[in-house]
Amino acid sequence: MTDSIRVHGGEPLRGEITVRGAKNFVSKAMVAALLGSTPSTLRNVPNIRDVKVVSELLRLHGAGVDYNVESGEIALDTTSLQYADALQIATHAGSSRIPILLCGPLLHRLGEAVIPDLGGCRIGDRPINFHLEILQKFGAQVEEGGDGLHLTAPNGLTGIAHTLSYPSVGATEQLLLTGVLAKGITTLENAAVEPEIKDLIDTLQKMGAIISVDTDRSITIEGVETLHGYDHTALADRIEVGSWASAALATRGDVMIHGAQQRTMGMFLNVFRKVGGEFDVRQDGIRFWHPGGDLNAIALQTDVHPGFMTDWQQPLVVALTQAKGLSIVHETVYENRFGFTEALVAMGAEVQLYRECLGDKKCRFGQRNFRHSAVISGPTPLHAADIEVPDLRGGFSHLIAALAAKGTSTVSGIGIIDRGYEAFRDKLTALGAAVE
Ligand code: EPU
Repeated sequence: MTDSIRVHGGEPLRGEITVRGAKNFVSKAMVAALLGSTPSTLRNVPNIRDVKVVSELLRLHGAGVDYNVESGEIALDTTSLQYADALQIATHAGSSRIPILLCGPLLHRLGEAVIPDLGGCRIGDRPINFHLEILQKFGAQVEEGGDGLHLTAPNGLTGIAHTLSYPSVGATEQLLLTGVLAKGITTLENAAVEPEIKDLIDTLQKMGAIISVDTDRSITIEGVETLHGYDHTALADRIEVGSWASAALATRGDVMIHGAQQRTMGMFLNVFRKVGGEFDVRQDGIRFWHPGGDLNAIALQTDVHPGFMTDWQQPLVVALTQAKGLSIVHETVYENRFGFTEALVAMGAEVQLYRECLGDKKCRFGQRNFRHSAVISGPTPLHAADIEVPDLRGGFSHLIAALAAKGTSTVSGIGIIDRGYEAFRDKLTALGAAVE
């Protein structure tokens, strides 16, 4: 498979596609299976590269992983596990940050774990300090080796009282995956409460865990001695839904997304409507379309749930280049998530980046050197270009820009997009895009 795609743009996307389970839940649910002493079944699993990466990581640790692409079912047998070294993990992890989340379950099951150098999308520094602090508080001993960080738990893991300085998704998952089998009570204040985390809590509860979530972002876990396997159907990928919906808007198209769930899309639907897009929530999905006429400029801030999620920002910004007037977007989750706009500007968009917080929320990046606010002036017709994709969501946004632009664009490095968008080439064809 080649790593670039030629897009003959300027035509609306029209048709129907299906979106399956959320990348950012499925990978964590697969890790959760390690906590169970009996096999698990996860359903609605998309055929994306991150699922392959986690499958390989689990196999390395002795788990049986059997994925049926068509039915979307993955059978995970974690009855007996074995240790894997940093080099093996690094080779299979690729750019995934999942190894850090394997630590709690592996410390419980094997008494040791290792974290090789971590990758992930190039959006800011993406540190792991929250994770290490949590693991150490639970009782993990961390030693630096030449190949990564080695963790052991000579005295087992014991429940903690912890407060996050920022409601990090990964750190909350770390605490859940470690706390469920730790001795005694674990509490977390200022937890992330994304729908993917709620689905992880539901999964852990099916396995025998005792977890309660309060309305004030606090989580309490009563540690149990053992957990068993689960049978669970993953929630839909709300980032993928938002991405295709934004593509429909930017190309003046009409896309029915089977599998899309309103309950996970609330803030996106509000914004989509304010921009001037229309949608219809149906029994089995959501139809999104451009009603004709001008789109409206808006002011928007990304935030943790229940706010407008950062991963919707990049695809929507492409649609905002087609809205009439000045749109303002303040990114408060990642310090460096506007790099992708450089290619949009090269294609004719007018986007200016600012270090200031252009929104009513003063965020962590305000007095620092990060260009984390964008002003987009539209509508600007986009013209074709040759683009190299920077990261997963930025890459999909470039694809949207190429679809909206008149002429033939070449988008290179699209392998990154396979990390999180199932069969996106087939879906483009199903929506009538002229791509090679
Ligand atoms: N942070 C720290 N220290 C840490 C961990 C995070 O400072 O130890 C900071 C990050 O640098 C960032 C903020 O906290 O500024 C939020 O990061 P978070 O931990 O919430 O993100 P994550 O768990 O690493 C997940 C998703 C991301 C998504 C974010 C926010 C997965 C595999 N990744 O990342 O998804 O953007 O939550 O919702 O679940 C994507 O799918 O393309 C993607 C990047």
